[in-house]
Amino acid sequence: MPLPAKLLVDIHTHVYLPRYTALLRSRSSVPLIRSIVNSEGVAEDRLLILDHEPSGGRPVGPQYWDREEKLNFMDKHGIDISVVSTANPWLDFLPASQAHTLASELNNDLEEYCSTAPSVASRQIKRLYGFGLLPLVPEITTSALLDIVKQIGELPHLRGLIMGTRGIGRGLDDEALEPVWAAIEKAGLVVFLHPHYGVDGSAWGDKDNGHVLPLALGFPFETTTAATRLILSGVFDKFPSLRLLLAHSGGALPALSSRLASCIDHDPVVASRLKHDARYYLGKLYLDAVAYGPEELGFVSDVISRADKFETGSSAKAAPNRSAGSKRMLFGTDHPFFPPLSASEKWKSVTENLEAINDVQGWSEEDRSGVRGENAVALFNL
Ligand code: URA
Ligand code: ZN
Repeated sequence: MPLPAKLLVDIHTHVYLPRYTALLRSRSSVPLIRSIVNSEGVAEDRLLILDHEPSGGRPVGPQYWDREEKLNFMDKHGIDISVVSTANPWLDFLPASQAHTLASELNNDLEEYCSTAPSVASRQIKRLYGFGLLPLVPEITTSALLDIVKQIGELPHLRGLIMGTRGIGRGLDDEALEPVWAAIEKAGLVVFLHPHYGVDGSAWGDKDNGHVLPLALGFPFETTTAATRLILSGVFDKFPSLRLLLAHSGGALPALSSRLASCIDHDPVVASRLKHDARYYLGKLYLDAVAYGPEELGFVSDVISRADKFETGSSAKAAPNRSAGSKRMLFGTDHPFFPPLSASEKWKSVTENLEAINDVQGWSEEDRSGVRGENAVALFNL
């Protein structure tokens, strides 16, 4: 049965599944969850996931692991469907055999989390889908990775997989990953590329700026670098049907893509490596709309839409077409991160992203509703 029109679909929303939370609680080095007594004498759980975690970590509670909380959050904000992913740092810190076993268990857990969620009876909508996990750690075998791609492909509520930027230790442009890209492409899974490490923290100076610099700048720069390395490796020439979704609207890549193209053109090592101008490959990407501002969303959709112009041999001259670019952008919230600092009915991190979608100059009502939900329905075959 076709889904009702005007759905709101959140494709950037995380969970720490109970099995994963238990692991974090059992650990004494980062990443971990620990209980502290806060300055008001109240016991509180803290999440520490970064190597130099600012301000003693982040307060965490059931919204990070409890499905009921996810559904309540969705109801509060009118979100019909969520495509849920495990939050960083995934399995990056585990030895290969443990990562392999846990990936398989967590993928089954996530399938159950999604498949047993109550649907909205009146609208017959399944509310939860997921991105599985690969055991992308050093020393993992290719066959273990292919095993897990196959598992995810066979779990009906998992429609993609989330991955960080390190691959099996040498980044995502590692040739050893080519069989994995091939298998992902063949299985029709969407890769959600998401940051965790940021960039070298020495750039942040000595002032305590909380999590602002690593999250606002470090995260998107990490995604920018990883996606650029993938483009430079020729991954989209080798796997043209690979579907890659970038977190945080692709970070700085849209703003730097012409500079990237020019640097390639002027570099004897790289100039003849790719089939097309670098800007062509931006049109192959999907980007979340987690940018918090209408000008940014409009700009990103312009950049994505002009990709055809840069296909080798193309005579396309069309001006950027915001509408066309919007088809590759999808609403997200980053829940449960960015909760309001004081009690409020709705989360600003959600309403700001919805308002931004609403306010983009040059997007039609159809474009907006595509970004809010229909693009996700098409991409994930919901
Ligand atoms: N902070 C994180 O650690 N992860 C996110 O996805 C968002 C904020
Ligand atoms: Zn996120």
